[in-house]
Amino acid sequence: MKLYIDSANLDEIRDLAWLVDGVTTNPSLVAREKAPFEETIAQICRIVDGPVSAEVMSLEADAMVREARPLSRIHPNVVIKVPMTEDGLKAVRVLRSEGIRTNVTLVFSANQALLAAKCGASFVSPFVGRVDDSGGSGMDMVGEVLEVLQNYGFPTEVIVASVRHPRHVFEAAALGADIATVPHAVL
Ligand code: E4P
Repeated sequence: MKLYIDSANLDEIRDLAWLVDGVTTNPSLVAREKAPFEETIAQICRIVDGPVSAEVMSLEADAMVREARPLSRIHPNVVIKVPMTEDGLKAVRVLRSEGIRTNVTLVFSANQALLAAKCGASFVSPFVGRVDDSGGSGMDMVGEVLEVLQNYGFPTEVIVASVRHPRHVFEAAALGADIATVPHAVL
C-alpha cells in the first residue's frame, strides 16, 4: 500500500518526504499555512516526487475546469481534487479528456466511487473518519468501494482519506486499498 501525507505544512512534508509516495492537501489545510495556494503546491512538488492533490474551490463544473487548468500546469505531479458532486463529475469528464488527472474527494459510499470511476477519475477518496463520526462504519464503506471497482477492473486508485488513527491505516492495508493518506501526527 502506498502512503501519502495529508498535509500542506512544508515542515511536516519535509520531515516525512523520505517515507511517503504522495501528498494530499485540502482548502482547510492550505488556509492554515498563510502562503499563496499555488506557491504552496509548487513547493510541495519540489519536496515529494509523487502525486500532489490540489483542490478546486469552485462549485460549478465550468469554473472548476477553469480553476484546474492552471493548477495542473504547476507541475506534472499535480492531481486536481474535485468534490463528489454532479458538477464535480462533469468537471472530471472534461479534465480527463484533456489528460488532467483527478482525485474525487468527499466520497461517502461505493455508489459515489462507482460514478467517479465511470467518469474517469484517477483516484477516489472515501472518507473513513467522517463516516465513523456520523455513526457508520467507514471501513465497511471502503471495503464496498474496493469490491465494486475491482469487479469491473477500473484503473481508478482508492485513497483511504479522513484517517484519524493507526488502526485506520492497518485496516486500509488489510482491505487492500491502493493508498492511505495520513496526517503527520498519525504517520
Ligand atoms: C483527504 O484528501 C483529505 O484532505 C482529508 O483526509 C480530510 O479529512 P478530514 O477533514 O476528515 O480530516
